Amino acid sequence: MIDFKSEIATQISKITDINKIEIEQYIEIPPNKELGDYAFPCFKLAKNLKKAPQIIANEIMNKLEKNNYIENFEVTGGYLNFYINKYELIKSVLNDIETYREKYGSSDIGQGKNVVIDYSSPNIAKPFHIGHLRSTVIGGALYKIYNFLGYNAIGINYLGDWGIQFGKVMAGYSMWKNEYNFEKKEDELNSILKIYVRFNKEEKENPDLTNKAKEWFKKLESGDNEATKLWEWMRKTSLENYEKTYKLLNCKFDSYHGEAYYNDKMDAVVKELEGKNLLVESEGAKVVKLDDYNMPPCIIITSAGTTIYATRDLAALKDRINSYDFDKAIYVVGNEQLLHFKQVFKVLELMGYEKYAKNCIHVPFGLVVDKNGEKIGSRKGNSVSLEDILQESINKVKKIIEEKNPNLENKEEVARKVGVGAVIFNDLSNNRIKDEIFDWDMLLNFQGETGPYIQYMYVRTNSLIKKAGYMPKMSDIDFKKLADKESINIISLLYSFGKIVKDAGNNNEPSIISRYLLELAKNYSNFYNEHKIICEDKKEQDARLAITLAVQIVLKTGCTLLGMEMPEEM
Ligand code: ARG
Repeated sequence: MIDFKSEIATQISKITDINKIEIEQYIEIPPNKELGDYAFPCFKLAKNLKKAPQIIANEIMNKLEKNNYIENFEVTGGYLNFYINKYELIKSVLNDIETYREKYGSSDIGQGKNVVIDYSSPNIAKPFHIGHLRSTVIGGALYKIYNFLGYNAIGINYLGDWGIQFGKVMAGYSMWKNEYNFEKKEDELNSILKIYVRFNKEEKENPDLTNKAKEWFKKLESGDNEATKLWEWMRKTSLENYEKTYKLLNCKFDSYHGEAYYNDKMDAVVKELEGKNLLVESEGAKVVKLDDYNMPPCIIITSAGTTIYATRDLAALKDRINSYDFDKAIYVVGNEQLLHFKQVFKVLELMGYEKYAKNCIHVPFGLVVDKNGEKIGSRKGNSVSLEDILQESINKVKKIIEEKNPNLENKEEVARKVGVGAVIFNDLSNNRIKDEIFDWDMLLNFQGETGPYIQYMYVRTNSLIKKAGYMPKMSDIDFKKLADKESINIISLLYSFGKIVKDAGNNNEPSIISRYLLELAKNYSNFYNEHKIICEDKKEQDARLAITLAVQIVLKTGCTLLGMEMPEEM
């Protein structure tokens, strides 16, 4: 791929004697194409050289040489604007896409580096909170994006598989198991969740139940055989169930070490904290003071003598350091745990692991709300299972297909890809920190800023290529046939794909890719409306088919990075 920016920087660097990397940092992309493809602002140099920026721009320009890549340059105000050779751009983009295909846009910047991604991490034996949908989808996308950038991504599902919720379910199960359906495997989890919800409700009127739950949890903690067996069964049942959802969402985990796994690994952390004089007594609890950092103390041992969420997270972090020697450790967890992670990372730093602590990143996200801004899946006890949401989406798409295209082949498969894709895209289509609006009409709108819209554009490229019945070779294409505005816009977008993926990785922000895909799909739609693709002039047709194929490849790669699958027809 020709790096036009680097070409420009090399020239300016030679003339000005300023380091090329620094120049590259200054180079901007002008807001409008009339001002060129790249611009070098001379304001910063003006200070050092004690000359007006415009004069500097002119001085540099007079020494510049036109070449194969740079067609023209001009000074506007304090900017030196560059116009690149469009045909070189088109050639470079199309040839590269033809060569690299689904690898186009990938990179090796992460070579040899481990990135640990803690995501999904539901609390099992409790209804799946809808917030875990976001963690699963955002984390799943980051996992794929990092791998595409050459990193070795390690997906960790840090299951909430320990805690009083097990005491509650076990107590409930021992009393009421005959009232629920435990005959069939597929009903097991549902029955466990129902017991949990009922227990919470009845506990309010009957404090005796709370004691029962505590007793059961104590039994579990002390390794009682019956309790341990029940716990194992519940964990397995939950996981098997989630696995179905993870498969639909194309999520992969390399480790399922959850909270329980760290039960016997916390002592070491507590000792280490003591050894490093970080633990102090406070109101009967043992804490690490964080006043110097404007944070409340991080509790390590509660006044009841038990370890706590933060203790476990520290044990898990130490384990992640030892096992993966990570370059980054990412936590995809809701905004409400902001303080928790700040505290844990600070404690790790105080323990002497600065090198790792500074590469621990909490990637927070907003709530899921309905179109009136009301929080979805809150406490009412209604379990909003991810599986149900996905199934509902698939069913809705099935209905749309029955209405609009009843003769479509592979209806089931298409409905799955579109239904699941719509839910994924909706989650990723805006900056993650914003609340996600979950509204069926909106997320399934084939004309809106949705997954189905992008899939529809993809299908369109597919049917055009089918209709033509052949694919021209990129090297035979007459690039002059692509000089129109719509084609150039698409080519520029395709050119930037690699940078988009890098930005998405650097910012842990998959929506950078979603916004890009919408832009690409919309631009292709403009192109398609303005130009006949299957047309009289064979050279023209070849050139437009080439663009069509290139768009198809990049749409698919981008969607795959988000976790979506593409239907070939719809
Ligand atoms: N299970 C937790 C919850 O549902 C999320 C865990 C996030 N990961 C972590 N290492 N703390 O709130």
